[in-house]
Amino acid sequence: MKVFITRKIPDLGLKYLMDAGISISEWTTKRDLSPQELIEHCQNADALLSAGNNRIDKTFLKAAAHLKVISLHSVGYDNVDIDAATELKIPIGNTPGVLSNATADTAFLLILATSRKAFYMHKTIQKGGWGFFEPTANLGIEIHGRTLGIFGLGKIGFELAKRCAYAFDMKIIYYNRGHHIDAERELGATRVSFSELLENSDVLSVNTGLTPETKGKFNKEVFECMKRNAIFINAARGAIHNEDDLTEALQKGLIWGAGLDVTNPEPMRPDHPLLSMPNVSVLPHIGSATEETRAAMSLIAAKNTVAGLRGERLPFVVNPEVYA
Ligand code: DGY
Repeated sequence: MKVFITRKIPDLGLKYLMDAGISISEWTTKRDLSPQELIEHCQNADALLSAGNNRIDKTFLKAAAHLKVISLHSVGYDNVDIDAATELKIPIGNTPGVLSNATADTAFLLILATSRKAFYMHKTIQKGGWGFFEPTANLGIEIHGRTLGIFGLGKIGFELAKRCAYAFDMKIIYYNRGHHIDAERELGATRVSFSELLENSDVLSVNTGLTPETKGKFNKEVFECMKRNAIFINAARGAIHNEDDLTEALQKGLIWGAGLDVTNPEPMRPDHPLLSMPNVSVLPHIGSATEETRAAMSLIAAKNTVAGLRGERLPFVVNPEVYA
């Protein structure tokens, strides 16, 4: 049995595959595969282990319908046409749970860094700008005791809410389809309408998946409804916010700041105006990028691959309908 892997993944996952007797072929060039290259490399494989943002659309799936499993090295699966995969009976695996802490840490880091203009201050020192002390210069804002609003409170949002509630005594409100019972019980979180979320959040964090419903959700009209002192955080998917509208909202002072681990598009161009704003912090999509988390993700992705190749149910399957 053969698996094609689209990027270098941690050794833990590779070892699991090798111990299971799977033969591995890896894409090691430091650029994305083109859609055609992805199809070609999968022709001799029985499984695809996809790390990075490869487009697994209908065209790819039809051309690679022989694959026994597609295992994603991510929790997000917005790059996959799930309906088409299900129709072709290809199980899609992902890596939920193991990256919740690391991703929540990244969102928390962005909240603090933004509220104290930390990235901008760092750049200022590098440019020789650590000058004369003035009591009114370099001021950030405090988040202690303020309200954290979460758009899409799931595993990652819950971890972020805990950090904000326990360490900063923040009040938690959230917008979800259903109730998050644990967050309500443990943190006193309150489920609110979308407009209440916008009106009341001092920090508004996006922690949801990218779907047709959430795509472009945070646009001009939405930023206009937010508090003037609000910090917007996105550590989920860049396409959930409109980046031009966000830039304009910050320039006009409609909101106070923004912290992004994801941009739209990625990578962000180095001369993007957001990068020179004092109240903005941007990271290159490193939410899950710790040694521990990436190793754990590689192991789950490998386990999903082996299970799929053996015709067993994947431990973490996005489209369980394939087993119906
Ligand atoms: C995920 O797992 O979805 C992270 O965003 C990394 O891509």
